[in-house]
Amino acid sequence: MQTTRLTLELIRTVDESYPIIIGNDLAKETVELASHPDLVDRRVAIITDSNVVKLYGAQLEEAFASVERETNTFVFPAGEASKTRAMKEQLENQLIDAGYGRDSLIIALGGGVVTDLAGFVAATYTRGLPYISLSTTLVGAADASVGGKTAIDVPQATNLIGAFHQPKAVLIDLDRWVTLTDDQIRDGLGETIKQACIADANFFDALEDAFVTRGLSVAEFVRDDEIAELTARRNCLIKRDFVMSDVHEGNRRMCLNLGHTIGRALEAAMGYTMTHGACVAVGMNLQARWSVEFGYMTPEEQERLERLLLAAGMPTEIPAGVSVEQIMAAMTHDKKAKGGAIRFVFQKGIGDVMTFDNGLYARPIEQSDIVDFLRRQKERP
Ligand code: GLY
Repeated sequence: MQTTRLTLELIRTVDESYPIIIGNDLAKETVELASHPDLVDRRVAIITDSNVVKLYGAQLEEAFASVERETNTFVFPAGEASKTRAMKEQLENQLIDAGYGRDSLIIALGGGVVTDLAGFVAATYTRGLPYISLSTTLVGAADASVGGKTAIDVPQATNLIGAFHQPKAVLIDLDRWVTLTDDQIRDGLGETIKQACIADANFFDALEDAFVTRGLSVAEFVRDDEIAELTARRNCLIKRDFVMSDVHEGNRRMCLNLGHTIGRALEAAMGYTMTHGACVAVGMNLQARWSVEFGYMTPEEQERLERLLLAAGMPTEIPAGVSVEQIMAAMTHDKKAKGGAIRFVFQKGIGDVMTFDNGLYARPIEQSDIVDFLRRQKERP
């Protein structure tokens, strides 16, 4: 029989640009963005968590009601434990039961868990719905809301199942930061300090000034308008730059994973009992010590990082009770593990990252060398 070969030509130019707005009291602004001609006729579904709904749900619903736009709010229990397949399915069933179809718009209202989960629902519901992120946390500003990564966790690893799905707009509402607990602020500080370490020495200086020189507590930090606004703005600028240059994480976007290879493994090894940001802080500090061994950072630069993390109340060592074997088991499940060696991003001093052969930003390290390094960290006095 004759073989038939066809080509379905599909060369696409896609404009996925979107605004990022940092400010106070952004419910009205969210409604205005949702009134864009491409979005105005869509049915609005607000997806949020059990904490944020109490603080912000009614205000956002009222803002939509004031332009006679009907909304339904879908609420799931707050916390990383909700980032599961089961919770995604539950939300999808609720949307189906409420009659939401292809003509819908999702508003992800909340922090990193909400934007990851609601964004992933948006990515697959009716093969993809537009969504707007109204971000209420420092984690959202530092990392989760910008860049279109959406995902859920599985027991083996965080964010293992997900999609790149860019929002139509991101709004960072600074007013909500004052409602965060110290742990939630520190969760965002892990990512924030990481952004400064990879790309912005002046931002690092400003964080050092706030925590080390002025001795601000994390609660005072989010209430200081100047440093809070600077933190949101610098985080978004850095994230925007890395995403614009490498949206699908072919190479440069991997720099945003500084400290994450150890951090994520630690998070899984601890059964997600320590926040992501705190685990990233440990990962960053350990990798900075490794950077010193490799000659990528001076000991003084590593000490500055450790001092900043400690001043912000962040952990800097592998917690007692977590073994190197547990970390390695989790690390080899992680999506970044390829073959025998595992790739790590390394800081170059403060505010820059190392590049390796062929312009790659991540250096592969054999698992036996990782074990050796982690054992030495565990044995430190
Ligand atoms: N969270 C890292 C990234 O967005 O690439």
